[in-house]
Amino acid sequence: MKTKSDITILAIESSCDETAAAVVKNGRTVLSNVIASQIDIHTLYGGVVPEIASRKHMEQINQVVDKAMADAGVAFDAIDAIAVTYGPGLVGALLVGVAFAKALAYAKNKPLVGVHHIEGHISANYIENADLEPPFMCLVVSGGHTHLVAVNDYGKYEIIGRTRDDAAGEAFDKVARAVGLGYPGGPKIDKLAKEGNPDAIEFPRAKVEGAPFDFSFSGLKSAVLNYINGCEMKHMEFNRADVVASFQKSVTDSLVTRAIAAAKEKGMNKLALAGGVAANSALKAAVEEACKENDIRYYKISPVYCTDNAAMIGVAGYYEYINGVSDDLSLNAIPNLKIGERK
Ligand code: KG4
Ligand code: ZN
Repeated sequence: MKTKSDITILAIESSCDETAAAVVKNGRTVLSNVIASQIDIHTLYGGVVPEIASRKHMEQINQVVDKAMADAGVAFDAIDAIAVTYGPGLVGALLVGVAFAKALAYAKNKPLVGVHHIEGHISANYIENADLEPPFMCLVVSGGHTHLVAVNDYGKYEIIGRTRDDAAGEAFDKVARAVGLGYPGGPKIDKLAKEGNPDAIEFPRAKVEGAPFDFSFSGLKSAVLNYINGCEMKHMEFNRADVVASFQKSVTDSLVTRAIAAAKEKGMNKLALAGGVAANSALKAAVEEACKENDIRYYKISPVYCTDNAAMIGVAGYYEYINGVSDDLSLNAIPNLKIGERK
C-alpha cells in the first residue's frame, strides 16, 4: 500500500530523438525506464530531422507510456503526478510529449509538472548515488548544451560557465562526420580513439578572454577539419584513430580543467557529469583522476542515464512536485527554455 511518503511519478520525454517514459518512486528509485530510439532513421540523413522526429514520437508515445506503466507494475491510481519535458528542444518533438502528458493529466485527474530537459539530465545523478545531495558542481555536456552548473539546492541552479559556440556533443558529431564515422559521432569517436594516440596531434584548447569558465569548441573543430584537408591536399594518409584521440583529448582537457576550477571557485567538493557526452570513457577517466588530485568527490553515472531518458525527468519532476510546483493545462513547449527559469 502506498504510504503518504511514497510519491510515484510517471515521466515523459520527447525533446529530441528518443521517445521515452519512466515511472520513478520518491525521486530516486526507477521502477521502469523505456526508451524508443529513432537513431536508425536519423542516421540515414546524417543527423536528426525535426519533422521525422515529431512523426516518430506520435507513432510511439502510446506504446512507450503503456510499457513504462506495465514494466513498473503500477496502475494509474498509484501515480501521484505526471512530469514532462517542456523545453529546451525541438518544438515539434516537445509538443508531442507535452500534449500527451496534458491529455493524460486531464483524463486521469493528475497534477502536471513541466520539467526542464537539462535540469533532468543533472537530476539523473540522484538515481545511482543515494547519498548525493546539493550543493554540487555539475558539468553538463550534451548534443545541444555545454554548461557548468552549480546545483545550490534541489531545483536551484546557477550557471557558472557555458559554451560560446558549439556544444561538446555537437563538436564530437561534426568531427565524426569529417572523418567519415557517421552519426551519432560521440560513441564512435569514443571507440575509435581507444586505438589512437591522444598526443599525436596538438589541437588547440581555446580560452574565452575574461570568462575562465566558458568554453569554445568551434576553433578546435576547424583545426581538425584543416588538419584533414591539409593531409588530403598533400595526398598524405592520416591516421583516423590518432585524429579522433587527439581531438577527444583537447575536448576533455578543456572540460575537466574548467569543471575542477569551477568547483574550487564555489568551494564545492562534489562533482557530477550529465548529458550524452558524460558517457565518454576518456572524459570519465580524466574527471576521476583530476578529482582524486584535487580532493573532490566524483559521482558516477551510467551511460543509460547520461543520454536522453525519462527517468531523469521523473527525478527532477519529483523534486519540483514536493516543492509545490505544478502546471496547469496551459503548459506549452518552450524550445529555448533557460536553466532555472519557469514559465
Ligand atoms: O544528452 P543527449 O543524449 O541529447 C541531448 O540532449 O543533446 O546527448 C547526445 C550527444 C550526441 O552529440 C552524442 O554524440 C554524444 O551525446 N555522445 C557521446 C557519447 N555518447 C553520446 N559523446 C562522446 N562520447 C560518448 N560515448
Ligand atoms: Zn539531452
